[in-house]
Amino acid sequence: MADARLTKEINRRRTFAIISHPDAGKTTLTEKLLLFGGAIQLAGTVKGRKAARHATSDWMAMEKERGISVTSSVMQFPYRDHIVNLLDTPGHEDFSEDTYRTLTAVDSALMVIDVAKGVEGRTEKLMDVCRLRTTPVMTFINKMDREGRDPIDLMDEVESMLKIRCAPITWPIGMGKRFKGVYHLHTGKVHFYSSTHGGKVQTGEVVEGLDNPKLDELLGDMARELREEVELVQGACNEFDLDAYRAGDLTPVYFGSAINNFGVAELLDDFVKYAPGPQERNTVTREVKPSEEKFTGFAFKIQANMDPQHRDRVAFVRICSGTFSKGMKVKHVRLGKEVRLNDALTFMAADRGHVEEAFSGDIIGLHNHGTIRIGDTFTEGEDLAFTGIPNFAPELFRRAVLKDPLKMKALQKGLSQLCEEGATQLFKPMVSNDLILGAVGVLQFEVVAQRLRDEYKVECQFETVGVQQARWIRCEDEKMLSDFTRKLDMNLSIDHSGELVYLAPTRVNLQMSQERWPNVEFLATREQV
Ligand code: G4P
Repeated sequence: MADARLTKEINRRRTFAIISHPDAGKTTLTEKLLLFGGAIQLAGTVKGRKAARHATSDWMAMEKERGISVTSSVMQFPYRDHIVNLLDTPGHEDFSEDTYRTLTAVDSALMVIDVAKGVEGRTEKLMDVCRLRTTPVMTFINKMDREGRDPIDLMDEVESMLKIRCAPITWPIGMGKRFKGVYHLHTGKVHFYSSTHGGKVQTGEVVEGLDNPKLDELLGDMARELREEVELVQGACNEFDLDAYRAGDLTPVYFGSAINNFGVAELLDDFVKYAPGPQERNTVTREVKPSEEKFTGFAFKIQANMDPQHRDRVAFVRICSGTFSKGMKVKHVRLGKEVRLNDALTFMAADRGHVEEAFSGDIIGLHNHGTIRIGDTFTEGEDLAFTGIPNFAPELFRRAVLKDPLKMKALQKGLSQLCEEGATQLFKPMVSNDLILGAVGVLQFEVVAQRLRDEYKVECQFETVGVQQARWIRCEDEKMLSDFTRKLDMNLSIDHSGELVYLAPTRVNLQMSQERWPNVEFLATREQV
C-alpha cells in the first residue's frame, strides 16, 4: 500500500507533451502555459528553441547553449493544486524518433492545430503513435485571431483523418478580424477576446449565459448567430465523455489564440481536471503501478549537456513508481550494478536545481558518462525491464570516412557514444571494417560530424553507401539462425547494442530474403529492453 503522502503527490501530477506540426504554435503555447504556471522567466528561453527546426547552423548554435535545451526539455510548473510536467519534443522532423520516445514517457498529450491549415503531416504521424498507446489527447485549435477554416469542417477533418471523435468544449465567436471570443459549452460563460501579445495573463470580459442581453449589446448581430450555432453544435457534436477521453477515443476541443493568451486558461483548467495522472507501465514480467512504494523508472531520452568538452550527457528518466530521494541507491538493471543518485536534476521551470525528492510521474535527469542507454530501467533491486520504448529502423545510411586513419579508436568511441543518445544508429558489417551510420533525417549526419569534431576531435565525413533498409533479425531456431547468418553474412551487421541487423541494398533484395527465410523475423522497430 502506498503511503498517504505518495498517493497525494501522484494524484496531483500531470505529465504530458504537446504534439503538432511545425508552426502551429507549440512553442508559443508552451510559453503561455509556463506563464500561467508562474514560471514567466523561462518564456523567452522556450521561444529561442524554435530556431531548432530552421537550419543546421541554427540548430548547432542552439545546441551550444546546451543549458537551455536541457532545461526546457522538461518543464515542471505548479498550477492550482497540481504539478504539471511538460515534456518538450524537438521541432525538427529529423528528430522525430526522439518525439516518439518522449511520448512513451507521458500520460497524455495536447494537440495543437492551426485553424487555417487543419490537420498536417506531422500531426497525423504523432497521432498514430498516441493511438497505438491509447494516449488521451486534448485539442487546441490555434490562431483564431486569423482567418481560417470553418470550425465544424475542421472537426470533421480531425475525426476522419485522425480517427478520434471530437467534443467541443469551447466554441469560437467569429474568427480573424471578427473574432470576439469563445463560448464555454460547459460553464455557459462567454469569454471576450482582447489581444495581448505580451507576457500578461489575459483577463477579458466574461458574460454569464447565452440569453444574457449583455451579449446583444456587445456582439450585435453576432449574438443571434452564436445562439443558433451553439444550438446546432449541441445537437450535432459529441458530448464530452471523460471515460472516452481517457480511453483515447474522444478529444475535447478548445479554440483560442496562443499568442494572445486567449483560450489557454480554459484549456489548462480542464487539463488539470480531466487529464490522467501517472499511469501503470508495463515491463517484461509485470505491470508497475505508480502507487508502489519502491522506486522504478526508465530512461527515454539522452541529451548532451551544457559543456560539450566534458561529454557529459543527461539521461531523462520517467519515474514509474515510488519516491526518488537524493542520494538513494538504485539498481541499473541492464548492467546489474548499484548506482547512487547523488546529483540528479529536477526541472522546476522557474528554478532548475538539484532535486531532493520526486514522485511517480516526474522526470529526473541523471548525469551519464556513457553507461545509460535509452530504455534502461532503474529499480530498488527488482529485475524489471520496461517495454514499449521503440527504436525505429533508420531510412538513411552513410559510411563514416576518417580524414586521419590513426583516429579510428576515437571515431568508434565517438560514434557509439553519440548513438546512445538515440538519434543515430551505428552498424558494423560482419564482413568489413566499415562503420555505417543510420538516421531518419539527413540533418543528423551533419550534427554527428560537427559533434565528432567538437567533442572528440575527429574529422570525419559521411559518404553514401549502398544500403536502403535495415531490419533487426530475430529467430527462435538457433540452427536456422546460424545458417541464415552464414549464408547472408554479406548483408549482416551488428548494431551498437550488439543486435544482429540485416542491411538491404534495395527493397527488392529485402523482400526476396524475407520470402526465402519465412521463419526469420525482419523487424522494422526494435524495443529497447
Ligand atoms: P511551433 O513551435 O509549433 O513551430 O510554432 P510557434 O509557436 O513558433 O509559432 C509559429 C508562428 O505562429 C510564430 O510566428 C508565432 O508567433 C505564430 N503564432 C503562434 N500562435 C499564434 C496565434 O494565436 N495567432 C497568430 N496570429 N499567430 C500565432 P512567426 O512569424 O514564425 O514567428 P515570430 O516572428 O512571431 O516569433
